[in-house]
Amino acid sequence: MDTFVFLFDLTFFVFLTVFVVLLTVTVVFHLKCRVPFVPTPRRVIRAMLDAVDLKDGQLVLDLGAGDGRVLSAAKRRCRGIRAVGYEGAIGVWMLARIRSWFLRDGVDVRRENFLQVDLSDADVIFLYLCIDPIRLLTPKFLRELVPGTRVVSHAFSLPGIEPDFVRDVPMQFGGKTKVFVYLWK
Ligand SMILES: C[S@@+](CC[C@H](N)C(=O)[O-])C[C@H]1O[C@@H](n2cnc3c(N)ncnc32)[C@H](O)[C@@H]1O
Repeated sequence: MDTFVFLFDLTFFVFLTVFVVLLTVTVVFHLKCRVPFVPTPRRVIRAMLDAVDLKDGQLVLDLGAGDGRVLSAAKRRCRGIRAVGYEGAIGVWMLARIRSWFLRDGVDVRRENFLQVDLSDADVIFLYLCIDPIRLLTPKFLRELVPGTRVVSHAFSLPGIEPDFVRDVPMQFGGKTKVFVYLWK
């Protein structure tokens, strides 16, 4: 009985330690990059997907993919896309991998800093970030994106670049948010 209690306590302690370490690393990452994990609501995801015409074979990215829900919804719209997300916070990335494993949705969320990834092959890019990372991303977009790439950003526009169109999306509990849509030229 004592051995059982000891093993139970040890397992609990190990799990708790791993959980606290993962949580701390995740929070530190969010403080550093200044964007917490806030999932995009379903109705906004629908509006983001309505703004693009997904086709088989396209490479669809979510920069700061969170738990992968935007890509998962994109895959449900068009099975033939390649859905790749980049998520830097380890705890959130693990959530995305577990979610994708359970759903078997074929979404590939990688634990990488999107500022260090080549974006030139992307056909569609989804974003839900804050102003600081968007400021860092915009010059990278100008260097790397090829004409025809679609960028769809929830809530924040790209500074200095005119969107092709903007959609207002009513929120469930009042108010509205915006979806900015760009066609790269
Ligand atoms: C507001 S959440 C959006 C999640 C998801 N795209 C959605 O719409 O539901 C932004 C995510 O971007 C991640 N992130 C911020 N900067 C990043 C970076 N440089 N590289 C990778 N991920 C980053 C954060 O960890 C956070 O989970």
